[in-house]
Amino acid sequence: MNQEEKIRQIDQTIIDYYSQQAVSDSLVESILYSVQAGGKRIRPLLLLELVEAFDLPLQPAHFQVAAALEMIHTGSLIHDDLPAMDDDDYRRGRLTNHKKFGEAMAILAGDSLFLDPCGLIAVAELPSQAKVNLIMELSQAAGTFGMVGGQALDMEGEGCQLDLKELKAIHAHKTGKLLAFPFVAAGLLAQVDEGVQAKLRRIGELIGLAFQVRDDILDVTASFEELGKTPQKDLVAAKSTYPALLGLEKAKETLDQVLDQAQNLLKEIAKNRPFSGESLTKIIESLRLYD
Ligand code: IPE
Ligand code: IPE
Ligand code: MG
Ligand code: MG
Ligand code: MG
Repeated sequence: MNQEEKIRQIDQTIIDYYSQQAVSDSLVESILYSVQAGGKRIRPLLLLELVEAFDLPLQPAHFQVAAALEMIHTGSLIHDDLPAMDDDDYRRGRLTNHKKFGEAMAILAGDSLFLDPCGLIAVAELPSQAKVNLIMELSQAAGTFGMVGGQALDMEGEGCQLDLKELKAIHAHKTGKLLAFPFVAAGLLAQVDEGVQAKLRRIGELIGLAFQVRDDILDVTASFEELGKTPQKDLVAAKSTYPALLGLEKAKETLDQVLDQAQNLLKEIAKNRPFSGESLTKIIESLRLYD
């Protein structure tokens, strides 16, 4: 299945979930406004590419796990943009959720997108133990010990001079954990052994770090049209970022090195078991930035 078809099915799975009889039509409208604004869908795509790389035929259950992940990510963006957080007016090329629906509804849309995914995974046609493990990993990746924890560190770090270790901890949590989830989830679905599972988690963490370093670089170098969000926001908010701490050139070098490490680990997995990782390698390579 090609990537466009995968994205179409991920989106349809989310829309199907919200086509149940609504309690509040305006809440669902606000949720779907942000979901349907697009986005690269890199997290769910990584998951589906990994499932295929392990030679599992894609099933509706895999799309439900992928959709659950994208829902949490979209909720994190709605909250990240709120006036009390990064205070952004644009996201995914359109007005941010709170600009369109007001702060209260945007907070609630984010709440829904955090809480609905566990229900969606729970009804997927997968063995019960696999679902418990997936829900546990997603909760850890998203909540207090993952993305939300990282967002708290990010807020506390505004205006502070952080060192590289502190900055890494922010990136590892606010972005790294949700990007590692597709790797961990695919390992659970393919029932790989502990050694491979540990490698997958590590690759995911590296991709997560690379992804936030890339986002920090693009904040400095890219345009509104390229990003769909307002550039140069990190400087204004005095955020600690890789370019701020290391300079643009060193930040780009770091991005390359981290992606190299991830690709090398992926090759190690492919050495020891059947694993067709070409599409995955392509997605990872697409994260490189060239001058
Ligand atoms: C943006 O994520 C927020 C970060 C974690 C850096 P994406 O760059 O994946 O945003 P969308 O989903 O494509 O809009
Ligand atoms: C986002 O980091 C991390 C999230 C958990 C959403 P940023 O604040 O840098 O993301 P953008 O640049 O607003 O997309
Ligand atoms: Mg932020
Ligand atoms: Mg932000
Ligand atoms: Mg950013």
